[in-house]
Amino acid sequence: MEAKLRVNATQKLGTINPNMYGNFAEHLGRCIYGGLWVGPKSTTPNDNGLRLDTTSALRDLKLPILRWPGGCFADNYHWQWGVGPEDQRRPGHNLWWDRPEPNEFGTDEFLRACSTIGCAPYVCTNVGSGTVEEALGWVEYCNSAQDTYNARLRRDNGHSAPYGVRYWGIGNENYGCGGNMTPEQYAFEYRKYATYIRAMDATLDGGLFLVAAGLFGDYNAEFFRHMNGALHLLDGFSIHLYVGGFSPSATTFSDDDHYRLMGEVLGMNEAVDRACHLLRYYSTFGHRLNLVVDEWGTWYPEANVPSGLYQQNALRDALYTVCALNMFNRHCERLVMTNMAQTINVLQSVLLTQGSQMVRTPTYWAYWMFRDHMGATGLAADVDAPTIKDVAGREVPLVDASASVSPDGDKLVLTLANIHLTEEVTLEVSLVGASAATGATGLLLTSPDVRDHNTFDAPDAVKPREMEILAGGEAFTITLPPASALSLSIPLC
Ligand code: AHR
Repeated sequence: MEAKLRVNATQKLGTINPNMYGNFAEHLGRCIYGGLWVGPKSTTPNDNGLRLDTTSALRDLKLPILRWPGGCFADNYHWQWGVGPEDQRRPGHNLWWDRPEPNEFGTDEFLRACSTIGCAPYVCTNVGSGTVEEALGWVEYCNSAQDTYNARLRRDNGHSAPYGVRYWGIGNENYGCGGNMTPEQYAFEYRKYATYIRAMDATLDGGLFLVAAGLFGDYNAEFFRHMNGALHLLDGFSIHLYVGGFSPSATTFSDDDHYRLMGEVLGMNEAVDRACHLLRYYSTFGHRLNLVVDEWGTWYPEANVPSGLYQQNALRDALYTVCALNMFNRHCERLVMTNMAQTINVLQSVLLTQGSQMVRTPTYWAYWMFRDHMGATGLAADVDAPTIKDVAGREVPLVDASASVSPDGDKLVLTLANIHLTEEVTLEVSLVGASAATGATGLLLTSPDVRDHNTFDAPDAVKPREMEILAGGEAFTITLPPASALSLSIPLC
């Protein structure tokens, strides 16, 4: 198969916010308990309760931001139950995910995990079953330098300096598990919560970044209509994009299912486009509104409540991730953060654990291949490739790409995918407004079968390998094997 890629270095799309490659960790299944946290008495190596292997793997990945504590869990979470000495923690019941919640892992443990990983925290408040006062107290606990009750509580718990948490979600899926609200009701609650939380902007240089929970289409339009012009109360507007319910599991699926999953990125693109249009329109009133996709990824039927939403993760998931992240990169002008669901042992995880063992999934490696896009300038990258009609009738391009140029302008970064299961692709790359010097380096992720995955016995079955690329000048050719992804870092002359 042959395809063409034209990268135009004079057509800049915007800065790719590093938070584009964030993740999400909820109190659900074994994501927090067992995944991030094992407790100080565990035989699994830990730093005062935090797992060493998973936190350092996330640090290596340069994970930029982590959303917590939910998800549906957030709108039934009371942060005060999870702070203070061990014997004062108040156990509860994890309503949505049907398990005991010991509250051993709370705000201070989460913020310590973020500091160990080197990522920013993104905290979701409880709108569905909480109060404005409770949410405001949480912001105060995390950020206030004054002598207030909640700031004293933080100090008493051993943290004299404010944490400076910038990103705050005002509820989660409030159209569903977050209170079954109409857009009008949610806009009412949002305005109320955000009025007081916005007033805490002074606790942080640059202010807080407040995120509203959206859905799609008419719901979103109605929400904005009922904001009654109070648009300064939000900085981000979030949508959730889950796909894959048609395949029984991550490793059992037909070839048709493979192409259908790749086709889902076209549907995601449409949802992102529509949300971006809406936010552009409402930004014309003077306050910039950004898109956030704070939950997304594959969700197969094998991931159900009794299994703690656990699912395996195959090369197919990695190829889907590359195509989705490429699509997100193309929206970097308005899309400032995404958070894949969910980090460890839940849904499309980057890490899986079993006792004290850990594996990096193919999705982990997909994220690895995007690290050089962080903070770079997105460039127009047009692909001209054959398509395949998926079972949903969509013409799915067989080759996908995104491009960026490093902040100092000396490196071109390309992330490419060939989703064809049996044919390699010869890709003719042409550069406009840039010229490649020799010495490109590449990372290739592929495996004989798209169902291949990493297990605790074979943790490195699917892993990228370095590849020498002969790139040079304004035009060059690259060959991509079937079912593969390639990231390239190309020095520019
Ligand atoms: O990620 C699992 C669940 O999916 C989240 O708790 C919820 O927000 C979404 O419906």
